[in-house]
Amino acid sequence: MIEVLKSADDLARQNCDVLVPTMGALHAGHESLIKLAKTKGDQVIVSIFVNPLQFENKEDLLNYPKTIDLDLKIAAVAGASAVFLPEESLIYPTGYKTIEAGGVGEIYEGKSRPGHFSGVLTVVNRLFDLVKPKYAIFGEKDFQQLFLIKQMVRKLSLPVEILNAPTIRDANGVALSSRNSKLDNDGIKVASVIYRTLLLGNLGKAKQVIKSEPRFKLDYLEMIDANTFDLAKEDTENKRLIIAGWINQVRLIDNMAMGSK
Ligand code: PAF
Repeated sequence: MIEVLKSADDLARQNCDVLVPTMGALHAGHESLIKLAKTKGDQVIVSIFVNPLQFENKEDLLNYPKTIDLDLKIAAVAGASAVFLPEESLIYPTGYKTIEAGGVGEIYEGKSRPGHFSGVLTVVNRLFDLVKPKYAIFGEKDFQQLFLIKQMVRKLSLPVEILNAPTIRDANGVALSSRNSKLDNDGIKVASVIYRTLLLGNLGKAKQVIKSEPRFKLDYLEMIDANTFDLAKEDTENKRLIIAGWINQVRLIDNMAMGSK
């Protein structure tokens, strides 16, 4: 069985090369993060903590899938050295530091989920502080999260290097997410419209196609500058198409690089 770390003392005995922060309900996307982590160092720690601060909706927090026994097996098989399973009191002791996400934290995901990114940055900063990894890996599926974490690391000069991991998709092109387990087969088929839309690589056409699937309730679909999160201009070098919406109240997000000029 994989080693489970619970306390600051447990962590003090580790020398973490790569941290893979998760909220559990591990799937093939997380497995790929762990495998990528192994190429960067031997000591790979997967953290599992369902962070209450990043849920603006209490019901969403209560309904978040929890599969801890399976998570431990998946982490072990993928090659993790240990799983960090902290209590809330270790992550958030009295007087813990809250990190504000700033302007980019308030648009797109941040607009629909007020306070979400401040919660994400606060927990990630605490995890870095406790685990002290050399590297930490985050998936590109949550592109705005990845952007804001890199921005935080730069602004606070944190001694950790952030690595991107590519989005893993199922056979229908649906980006893997712990939330997909809330969709039935029909919902998953509907979700494949997201990938088809992104593949068009053109905002106008993408808007038309997404409108043709009324079961997908669009929140936003935009072409952004991946370096700034401003709307892309004609001559923007790194464009990214980003999308979010709901199928039967399950929120899904995705994005795709449109290549450099
Ligand atoms: O992407 C996630 O699973 C979470 O937002 C993270 C980074 C583990 C912070 O709770």
